[in-house]
Amino acid sequence: MNVLAVGATGSIGRLVVVEAVRQGHVVRALVRTAGKARKLPREAQLITGDVTQPDTLPAAVDGVDAIVFTLGSNSGKVGAENVDYGGVRNVLRALGRRKPRIALMTAIGVTNRTGAYNRATEAHDWKRRSERLVRASGLQYTIVRPGWFDYNRSDEHQLVFAAR
Ligand SMILES: NC(=O)c1ccc[n+]([C@@H]2O[C@H](COP(=O)([O-])OP(=O)(O)OC[C@H]3O[C@@H](n4cnc5c(N)ncnc54)[C@H](OP(=O)(O)O)[C@@H]3O)[C@@H](O)[C@H]2O)c1
Repeated sequence: MNVLAVGATGSIGRLVVVEAVRQGHVVRALVRTAGKARKLPREAQLITGDVTQPDTLPAAVDGVDAIVFTLGSNSGKVGAENVDYGGVRNVLRALGRRKPRIALMTAIGVTNRTGAYNRATEAHDWKRRSERLVRASGLQYTIVRPGWFDYNRSDEHQLVFAAR
């Protein structure tokens, strides 16, 4: 498949790109600056864009069969709205009639609205709303709400999957 990685230079996105290349997909990595793309495998095609700037997105989505979102602004309320939510909205809008499969990573806490983290950042609210956009898009999708990935103590080297 032609796979677009959105958030490709992030700690999780880099792993997405490496694994998608390993599986034989043609991988397009959306990057904001070429410098940040140095750590990506050379097989990945780089495409410069910013999810908050819709005019940079049509070229990124052209011909894609799948999109993996591992976006994160990590910069408070404005970033959460414009990137975590607005970025998903803008990429979906750029698709037009294209119907790629979507994988969206949000976070384990997105249904926790009243905790201190969400009150300070609104990150859970905007990520939860981005999930809604994907569900309403009519596209095939998978939404993943992971816990923290870097639990590295010796008794933490296991994966626990739960579905609700
Ligand atoms: N890491 C975890 O353990 C974990 C667990 C659960 C949930 N999450 C959630 O998943 C998100 C991603 O995690 P991460 O650790 O991979 O974060 P990260 O390392 O900060 O990566 C964020 C990615 O989003 C990109 N990005 C930010 N603003 C953008 C914009 N305007 N246009 C295009 N790309 C933009 C960044 O690009 P640049 O490189 O250009 O900044 C980077 O590639 C986080 O928001 C977090 O809430 C993470």
